Amino acid sequence: MRLEGVTKRYDRGVAALGPVDFTVRKGEFVSLLGPSGCGKSTALRIIAGLSEPTAGRVLLAGGGRSIGFVFQEPTLMPWATVRDNVALPLKLSRQRRADIGDQVEVALAQVGLAEFAAAYPRELSGGMKMRASLARALVTDPDVLLMDEPFAALDEITRFRLNNDLLALWRGLRKTVIFVTHSVFESVYLSRRVVVMTPRPGRISAEYCIDTIEPRDENFRTSAEYAAYCRKVSAALSLAMGAHRR
Ligand SMILES: Nc1ncnc2c1ncn2[C@@H]1O[C@H](COP(=O)(O)OP(=O)(O)OP(=O)(O)O)[C@@H](O)[C@H]1O
Ligand SMILES: [Mg+2]
Repeated sequence: MRLEGVTKRYDRGVAALGPVDFTVRKGEFVSLLGPSGCGKSTALRIIAGLSEPTAGRVLLAGGGRSIGFVFQEPTLMPWATVRDNVALPLKLSRQRRADIGDQVEVALAQVGLAEFAAAYPRELSGGMKMRASLARALVTDPDVLLMDEPFAALDEITRFRLNNDLLALWRGLRKTVIFVTHSVFESVYLSRRVVVMTPRPGRISAEYCIDTIEPRDENFRTSAEYAAYCRKVSAALSLAMGAHRR
């Protein structure tokens, strides 16, 4: 996937993003790291085709958009069971009824929620709601997974668990993941590449490849190597912030 000169200016003249140029390889895990309001969600919405760029374009491998979106809020329908929430994208794409059940079971198993298929969102913890939301994004078996600060509202213990589970899923499914966060620590832990953005209008300020022994686990989180990467990326973020302060 490639973004070429992607720029967004909203109706009342707010320059939100860009121009941004970057390429994401198939199967890569990339984080977009930037301060609040720098245009990260705008970038994801443009990639997903939910919003049109003012200038520039998004080139997708294979032509079609095969994308799953995990929003910052789990946005589950409160009146529907977990199973029905996860089935929604399949129903919208008019899949055959017989296939829907199987695909939903697979997606729920992938996120460890198989036992909660009949539960309602209010019966789930915050972490489980996010798992349901992830299952809903995976159920169509998309090539690309877009994740917008999915774990920002969770407590640290839950967030670390979901980080590890997401990495295990990624290793198993080999989807392309674009993960938006404003946490240096989360971006370094999860991704192969961290893209640092400037304040609004967001542009790419720096990029870091995180090359370490795989698979990553809690040992990485407490290693000197991890701390060194976090320091570097943190410094790059400060630089990006400072360069645009007037
Ligand atoms: N629909 C809209 N109409 C007008 N301006 C908008 C709209 N959506 C976003 N903006 C503006 O565009 C800028 C970028 O917004 P965006 O939501 O993409 O930022 P973000 O990096 O995702 O921020 P956060 O980390 O807080 O979620 C902001 O200044 C915001 O006010
Ligand atoms: Mg956002």
